Amino acid sequence: MTNRTFTMIKPDATEKGYTGGILKMINDAGFRIVAMKMTQLSTEKAGQFYEVHKERPFYGELVSFMSRGPITAAILEKENAVEDFRKLIGATNPAQAEAGTIRKLYAASIGENAVHGSDSDENAAIEGDFFFSRLEQF
Ligand code: CMP
Repeated sequence: MTNRTFTMIKPDATEKGYTGGILKMINDAGFRIVAMKMTQLSTEKAGQFYEVHKERPFYGELVSFMSRGPITAAILEKENAVEDFRKLIGATNPAQAEAGTIRKLYAASIGENAVHGSDSDENAAIEGDFFFSRLEQF
């Protein structure tokens, strides 16, 4: 499944009421939403999702942050989706994010950075399947 990426609007952005604004930026940038749900990760599920970062010093903080409140998970479709979406969200650290990016506008810090975006086609498929069954992917 090419030309698809996966995103989460994280608990910090949900708490601040940024979900609608972020979805509008995603739509305006030409991404089509082909799956979407609002849900809350358990600490176990958040740990599983971010397992690749298990050895990092911020892993515990990341798992507790990502499970503290609701998130919106979505699969997005567009030509060159993974790369274009990473451009739209900006650098992981909002202090380094370019003007006009989602993180520049909505992220508070490197940890609480408002949105997630997959870093490869392979991970986009794995992450989309983590949240959505085949029947939920349009
Ligand atoms: P994300 O793109 O979802 O992928 C991994 C996440 O780990 C990242 O966004 C941040 O939320 C978090 N993260 C990355 N680096 C740090 C850091 N130095 N300190 C705390 N959290 C981090």
